[in-house]
Amino acid sequence: MAEEATALTGFWHWWTIIISVGLILSFLYLLHFAKTIKGSDSPDRKMHHTFDGIEEYDNPMPKWWLMLFYGTIFWGLGYLAVYPMGNWPGLSGISNLSRLEADQVAHQEKYGPIFEKHAAVAVEELAKDEEAVKIGRRLFLNNCAVCHGQDARGGYGFPNLTDNDWLYGGAGDTIKTTIMSGRQGVMPAWGASLGEEGVTDVSNYVLTLSNREDADKESAARGKDLFATNCAACHGQDGTGTQALGAPNLTDNTWLYGGTLQRVKHTIRNGRTGVMPAHENLLGEQKVHILAAYIYSLSND
Ligand code: HEC
Ligand code: HEC
Repeated sequence: MAEEATALTGFWHWWTIIISVGLILSFLYLLHFAKTIKGSDSPDRKMHHTFDGIEEYDNPMPKWWLMLFYGTIFWGLGYLAVYPMGNWPGLSGISNLSRLEADQVAHQEKYGPIFEKHAAVAVEELAKDEEAVKIGRRLFLNNCAVCHGQDARGGYGFPNLTDNDWLYGGAGDTIKTTIMSGRQGVMPAWGASLGEEGVTDVSNYVLTLSNREDADKESAARGKDLFATNCAACHGQDGTGTQALGAPNLTDNTWLYGGTLQRVKHTIRNGRTGVMPAHENLLGEQKVHILAAYIYSLSND
């Protein structure tokens, strides 16, 4: 959006003009050509062909129709003269380019001061500002809802942003960094090194971290050491996770990729690499700042 509007290159400029004008002139020629065709010379004005018993009269084109056709042609030429085409501004003097630029200037004049005002307020404070939250919500629907859902509750592989349970941290500036620079969670695959049994054991152990009744206790006991050796570096000895790595808390029974034994085993066997795209270039810092305030407001009111 912040991109500069640019003029058409010479080629496209002439491409539009030649096609537009050429098409209209070809209609004029067509009408002229049709008038010069020598018609039927028989006194009954019939063309001398029959098709399935149907014969054709050689009537001139109806006057009203011709006038209408000429009318549209001249109207079309007039329109082209007045309105912009290619890089030509038209007699009215408003080129598409100048209109776009004017729109951008107007947009900047209208919203620039609002964005600037909001940018000066800390994210946590801004989250209480109704106007900012409203703008943030609109930005969210346009840019984020495709992945995180209209209500920001996320879905399979896309974190819920309303539950105050954070992969990377819920402080205002942390949320802002997440949106500006993006994030990439890397959960390695363990199927090869632990084997299927090891994956099952450590998965059951992970379920016990959330006090899950459905975990197989014996299997979990075998998985405990596997967890300490292989997983604690990222998820912590107690399994509460490490936000600097985006390694989730495994003790709260909140799951990014599903909490059934099957799903947890799948995650551990094959690994996961969730990607949150960077939005700094797309939106600019001021809009991201307002978005961060909106996200913050969802779980802090
Ligand atoms: C292409 C899909 C996609 C889009 C678009 C997207 N996100 Fe994300 N977002 C993700 C994924 C996936 C993650 C989790 C990354 C991970 O697994 O490490 C994430 C993570 C986050 C987090 C971190 C949550 C936490 O628990 O720490 C925040 C905050 C966030 N997104 C906000 C936004 C905002 C605001 C927008 C719009 C500007 C947005 N996202 C657009 C996919 C997306
Ligand atoms: C290099 C750091 C690292 C190691 C080692 C690691 N994980 Fe992970 N784990 C992560 C990250 C990062 C994620 C989040 C992936 C994402 O956001 O897509 C994750 C996600 C998970 C999840 C999904 C949680 C959910 O909410 O769906 C489970 C379960 C899990 N890890 C278990 C384990 C187990 C068990 C081990 C050891 C066998 C292990 N992890 C080792 C970094 C690690």
